Amino acid sequence: MAAKGSAYYITTPIYYVNDRPHIGHAYTTLACDVLARFMRLAGRDVKFLTGTDEHGQKVETSAQAAGMDTQTFTDRVSQNFRDLSAALNFSNDDFIRTTEPRHTRACQALWEKLLENGQIYLGSYAGWYAVRDEAFYTETELTTGPGGKKIAPSGAEVEWLEEPSYFFRLSAWQDKLLAFYQANPDFVGPDTRRNEVISFVKGGLKDLSVSRTTFKWGVPVPNDPEHIMYVWFDALINYITAAGFPDTESAGFTTYWPADMHMVGKDILRFHAVYWPAFLMGAGVAPPKRVYAHGWWTNEGQKISKSLGNVIDPHALVAEYGLDQVRYFLLREVPFGNDGDFSHRAMVGRMNNDLANDFGNLAQRSLSMIAKNCAGSLPTPGAFTEADEALLDAARTLQARLSAEYAAQAFHRALEATWEVISAANRYIDEQAPWALRKSDPPRMGTVLYVVAETLRHLAILAQPVMPAAMDRMLDQLGVPAGARDFAALPNALTPGTALPKPQGIFPRYVETEGAET
Ligand code: MSP
Repeated sequence: MAAKGSAYYITTPIYYVNDRPHIGHAYTTLACDVLARFMRLAGRDVKFLTGTDEHGQKVETSAQAAGMDTQTFTDRVSQNFRDLSAALNFSNDDFIRTTEPRHTRACQALWEKLLENGQIYLGSYAGWYAVRDEAFYTETELTTGPGGKKIAPSGAEVEWLEEPSYFFRLSAWQDKLLAFYQANPDFVGPDTRRNEVISFVKGGLKDLSVSRTTFKWGVPVPNDPEHIMYVWFDALINYITAAGFPDTESAGFTTYWPADMHMVGKDILRFHAVYWPAFLMGAGVAPPKRVYAHGWWTNEGQKISKSLGNVIDPHALVAEYGLDQVRYFLLREVPFGNDGDFSHRAMVGRMNNDLANDFGNLAQRSLSMIAKNCAGSLPTPGAFTEADEALLDAARTLQARLSAEYAAQAFHRALEATWEVISAANRYIDEQAPWALRKSDPPRMGTVLYVVAETLRHLAILAQPVMPAAMDRMLDQLGVPAGARDFAALPNALTPGTALPKPQGIFPRYVETEGAET
C-alpha cells in the first residue's frame, strides 16, 4: 500500500443538542464532508470530526422543558445527529460528545495551563447574557424590543447576570491577535469575514467570563467545583480533545494539530477566529490554520425559524428529491460564503436541468449506444482527432482546476468547472453524431463513444465528493474497478473491450404531482 499523504484535519462546529438537526446543520457538515472526501481521493491522510455540544444553560433548559434527565436528553438528541450523518452519507472519522470523559480531561488540562500562564483570574461578572446564543453582550450592542425587552444583535433576548466568575485575559490579546491575522492572511475566509474579524478586534477586547456558578450542567473548573466552564470555552476545546490533547506528544496530536480547517456558520465566527486562537496561544498551543464562515439559508425567501414553523428537515428533503440531488443543490446553488435561499422551484430546476438533462443524459445516451452498438463492451478507439483531444484534454485538466477551487472552498466554482466539461461533452456528441456514424463509419463511432466514456470516467471520479453514491453507480456502469476510483487512478484510461453492465438512469427527473407548487 502506498504511504499515506500529508494530514488534513477538518472539523464541523459541534451542534447543540437542544434541537432536531435542520438544513443549517446539514449544510455545514456537508461542506466538510465534500472537502474530506476530496482530500482522501487526493491521497491525504484525512481526519474529519463532527459531534455534539452538550453542556450549557440552553441544553439544560431544553431537557427540563422535555421533562427529562439532562444526560438522557442529550443521549437522545445527540443520536439524532449521528443519524443525520448516516442519512446524508457523511464520512466523519470521529464523533465527539462534550459529555465524554476524554473531553472533560482536555478541558481541565487546558484550563490548568491557562491558569499556570496567568491567563485566567477570579472576579465577578455583571452584565447581559443571551441563553439562545450562549453569549455575553455589552449594553451598547443591545436594542430594545417589544415590551421593553433587551435584544442582542442576533435577535435573541438577553438577561442580566451577576455571579462570581473566572475571566480569561482577552484584553491582553488584541495586538497579538492582530499580528497573528497579519502574519496568517488565510486564517479567516472569505476575505469579507476576515475584515469583520479584524475590525472587531481593533475595536478593543474585554476580558471574557469563562465560568458560571448559577447552574451545574458543564465541565467543573479544577479545584473550584462551584464553577463550571462557560459552554463556549468547553465547546471549542473539542477540536483538540479529538486530536488527543492533552497528550501533545501523541501520534494523533502531532499528526493532526493544528487543524487545517474549522468550518463554521457566519454567526459563530467570532468565537472561532477571536476567542479560540487567544485561548490556544495563551496555553502555548498552536492555533488552527483556517476558519471559514459560510452563509445562512432562508426558506422560500423567509428566515428559517421554529416560531415561523418553516424549519427544513434534511431527512424530508432527501426523501423528496434524493440524497445526491440535495447534496449537489446545496453546494451548487449558492456561492459558498454567501447567504442562499432554498426553494422547491430552484431545487427541481437543478435536478432536472443540471443532473437529469446535462449529466444524466450524457451518461445515458452514450452508454446505451455502447450497449446497443458495441455488443455491450467498451469500443477500441482509433486515432484521435483534434476534437477528441480537445475534449479529453478538458477532462484531464479538470482535477487541477478543482483542486484550486476546493483549496479556496469554492464549491460552486468547482461544480461550474465540472459542468463546463459536461457541456463540452454534450456538444461533442451532438457534433460528432455517433448515431449517424453507426452505418457510415463504425470504427469512428467506436472512437467517439470511447472518448465520451473516458470523459465520463474523469467526471465521475472527480464528482464523487459531492455525489458519492450516484458517482459510484456511474463508475460501475463504466466498468471502473473499485480500486481505480481515486485521483491517482485518473491517468489510467479505460481498457477497450471491458464488458459493461446494462446502463441504468442515474438522475431521474422530478415530476410535479398535481397540486404541488411549481
Ligand atoms: N454549539 C455551537 C457551536 C460550537 S462549535 C465549537 C452552535 N451550535 S448550533 O447547533 O447552533 O449549530 C450551528 C451551525 O449550524 C452553525 O455553523 C450555524 O451557522 C449553522 N446554521 C444554523 N442555522 C443555519 C441556517 N439557516 N443556514 C445555514 N447554517 C445555519 O452554534
